[in-house]
Amino acid sequence: MLLGFYSDIHGNLDALVFTLDGLRALGVDYLFCGGDVAGYGARPNECLELIRFAQGDERIERARVDEILAETSLADPGTLADFLAVTPNRTVKGNHDHAAVTPGAELIFNSFAARAIIWTRRELTDENIGWLEELPLSLDIAENGLPAERGNDSPLLFRLVHASPHEPERWHYLLNRQEIKRAFNSLDVPFCFIGHTHQPVFFEQHEDGYIEVITDSDIVPSLFRRYIINVGSTGQPRDNDPRACAATFGYGDSLRKMKIRLHRFLYDNELAAERILKANLPPELAGRLLRGV
Ligand SMILES: [Fe+2]
Repeated sequence: MLLGFYSDIHGNLDALVFTLDGLRALGVDYLFCGGDVAGYGARPNECLELIRFAQGDERIERARVDEILAETSLADPGTLADFLAVTPNRTVKGNHDHAAVTPGAELIFNSFAARAIIWTRRELTDENIGWLEELPLSLDIAENGLPAERGNDSPLLFRLVHASPHEPERWHYLLNRQEIKRAFNSLDVPFCFIGHTHQPVFFEQHEDGYIEVITDSDIVPSLFRRYIINVGSTGQPRDNDPRACAATFGYGDSLRKMKIRLHRFLYDNELAAERILKANLPPELAGRLLRGV
C-alpha cells in the first residue's frame, strides 16, 4: 500500500498539478489532502475542482479537468486525469479554507494573507464555497486506506488534520515543545499527518514519552512509537526549497516494511508567480514562491 499526502496548496495550480503527477508516478493508491487548498494563489477554483474530481464529485466533468490541466505546462495531462479519475482522495479543512468562506475571519491574518483571503472569497464559485464549508476538520483512516468507520474491519492507522490533532478548530502551530506535546497527548492513533506550518518535519514520540524532532527526508517507523508527520506545503513551501513538497507512507501486510518519505517536485513556479501578479494579488506572494520562503 502506498498513500500519498499533500497539503497547503494555496491556489497554486501549477504546484498542485506537478505534485499530483509526481505522486501518480510513484504509484500511490490513495490520496490525502491536508487542507488550505485556497488562499494566497491565483487559481483557487481550479485547484478545488481538480481535488473535487479526484474525490469523485460528479459535478466536475472530465472535460473541465482537461481544460484546467491544459492551462499548465504538464507534458501528459491525459495520464494525470486518468489517475485522478480512479484514485480516491480525501480532504480536511484548513484555516485558509475556513477563512475564505467565513467573512470577518480574515481579521486575524497578516495583511498579505488577509488581502488574499478577501480576493479568494470574491473569486470562489458558489459550488466551491459550498464544498469547502462541508469539509471535515479531522479524518481517521484505517490500514486499508478507507475511513475508519462502522463496517470497515481494518484497524485504525492514522488521523489527518490540518494543524494539530489537539483542538483542530483552533489551528495550533506545532512549532514549540509545548504544542507538540499537547498534540501527542490528544492522539489515540499511531500516526497523524498534518500541514499548516509549510515546513516538513517528523515528530517521533519514544516509548518513554520523549519527543524527537527528525528533519531527515524519510523515516522507518517503529510500531512501538507514535508519529506526527508534517508533510510540508505543495503550493507555498517555506523551508528555503521552492520545490513543491508532499509525502508518501508505504507499508506491506500487517504494517511490515513501513516507510514514510518526503518528496520534492519541480514545477513552473515562475508561471505560478506570474499568475499572482496578473491577478493583482500582493506581489510579495509571487516573490516568495521563487525563493521558498
Ligand atoms: Fe497553509
